[in-house]
This record gives sequence, structure tokens and C-alpha cells, in this order.
Amino acid sequence: MTDKLAKPFLKWAGGKTQLIEPIQRFLPKSFTESNFTYIEPFVGSGAILFWVLNNFPSLKKAVINDVNEDLINVYKTIATQPNELISILKILENEYHFFEFMENSEENKKHYYNQKRILYNTRSSEKSTQAALFIFLNRTCFNGLYRVNSKNKFNVPAGRYKKPTICNKDNIFAVHEALKKVEILCGDYEKTLPLANENTFFYLDPPYKPLNKTSNFNSYAKDEFGDEEQIRLYNFCKKLDNLGYNWILSNSDVKGKAENEDFCFTNFKKTTK
Ligand SMILES: C[S@@+](CC[C@H](N)C(=O)[O-])C[C@H]1O[C@@H](n2cnc3c(N)ncnc32)[C@H](O)[C@@H]1O
Repeated sequence: MTDKLAKPFLKWAGGKTQLIEPIQRFLPKSFTESNFTYIEPFVGSGAILFWVLNNFPSLKKAVINDVNEDLINVYKTIATQPNELISILKILENEYHFFEFMENSEENKKHYYNQKRILYNTRSSEKSTQAALFIFLNRTCFNGLYRVNSKNKFNVPAGRYKKPTICNKDNIFAVHEALKKVEILCGDYEKTLPLANENTFFYLDPPYKPLNKTSNFNSYAKDEFGDEEQIRLYNFCKKLDNLGYNWILSNSDVKGKAENEDFCFTNFKKTTK
């Protein structure tokens, strides 16, 4: 269907394209040369996932997971109904671009966006429509943010774009192909552990510990990922160590930004590796 390489199909806060180089440096060579399983328990837009899928042909299997059910519905829809998804996206794209030729195009686009956001938040459409609305909102909202309130209602305002790409057909087919090696889970990250085997590499990219009290963007899902969650994750990584799995975790450098910030020092004593 396509010979293009799959790339992330969403804009996502904390997308990790810029971390590919350091992650590559820390990967054990012997590990990626043989059949291995890649597990990404906090997948988001999957920047590292797609890099792994494109660059390691000896990869036996990948497992992805995220607690955000609406996000995982998009992955599952691309895996199982790419044609249906593309047709719905094409309609949304044509309608949105049409406003560009009308008077008051900004007002019209904003109104259209708000109508689609209301529809999305009812969560009453078919799964493929819901996935298309997710992609539409992601491409047309302010800064590509995904933020929900405590009732799980998506609440990001409209962005200002002329003719954004809403339906990237080639990439959807490329992602569809790439996902054939991928098992897709939805839930808490600890659920991925039973899918590991002896040659498994975990890449963990949780919501970050906020750098300060005002930069607290980590509401990708209705439940916050606070300090207690960071400590639970630390204990999960210790478990991975004890079971002999390879893993890399990324987080924010809170100490580098605030001299008196001792959260990591106090809570995360050096692990065995
Ligand atoms: C920093 S983002 C990951 C970004 C990703 N690396 C990328 O390239 O886009 C963190 C992700 O963790 C997910 N998340 C939050 N709490 C979780 C939990 N308890 N278990 C699994 N996923 C969770 C969020 O929905 C969000 O997609």
C-alpha cells in the first residue's frame, strides 16, 4: 500500500524525537542485533516507537500502552480500519479547508472546531469516527495540546491554521503496516510487565514532574501523575532491574531548574544498574 516510513501521526506534549540520539547511545548493541521485544508503556505519539520500528528489522515484537483510552482507540483504528478512518478524515479536511475561501474564515473555522469538539466529547460516535475526530482536533487545536478536565472532556481551544494537513493518507497506511508487529494495550503501565520476555527493552516516558508550580502540564488523562505516581514508577523500575530487563526512563531535570528541589535525591536512591 505504501513504501513510506511510518512517523508519529499526532502532535503530543513531551514528544521524544529529540531524544532519539541519546537513547540510541545507551542501547546495548548485542541487544538490538538479535530478536528482541520493545515495550513502551507510556506511548503518547510514539516518537521512539516509530524510530524503533523503522530502524531495527530484527525486532520480534513491540508492545505499546497508554492510559488514555481515546488515544489508544486511534492506534487501534489505524491498525484495523485505515480506509474508513481516511474517508472520514478526508471529509473533515475538505470541510475545514473550504472555510478558507469564505468571508469570516477564522470565525467559521472556530465554530466548526467547537462543534466537532462537542461531538467528540459526547463519545457517542462509532470508534472510527471518534478516532478521526481525535486526529482532527489534534491538528486544528491550539498548539496540538491534548488536555482534558476532571470529567475527561477535551477542553483545548481552537488554533489558528490556514490549511493544516488533517488527512495524511500515506502516513496512515505506513503506520498501519508498521503496527502489524505491535500489540496495543490500554491501561496502567504496570500492565505491560507480563508481556516481557528475556530479551526485552522498556522505554518509559511518563508525564514529567513539573519543573515549577506554574509549569504543571501533565494532564494528558483525567488522573494526575503526581509525586506518589513518580515514586510508584521508581519502584516499578526497581522491579524491572530485579527481573533483569533493560530499560531507559526519561523525566524532567527538576534539580537543574531549582537548587532546593530534592525530590529525586530524597526518593530515588541509585538503582542496582
Ligand atoms: C510524556 S507523554 C509520552 C510522550 C511520548 N513519549 C511521545 O513521544 O509522544 C506521557 C504519556 O503517559 C500517559 N500516561 C499517564 N499516566 C499513565 C499511566 N498510569 N499508565 C500509562 N500511561 C500513562 C499519558 O496519557 C501520556 O500519553
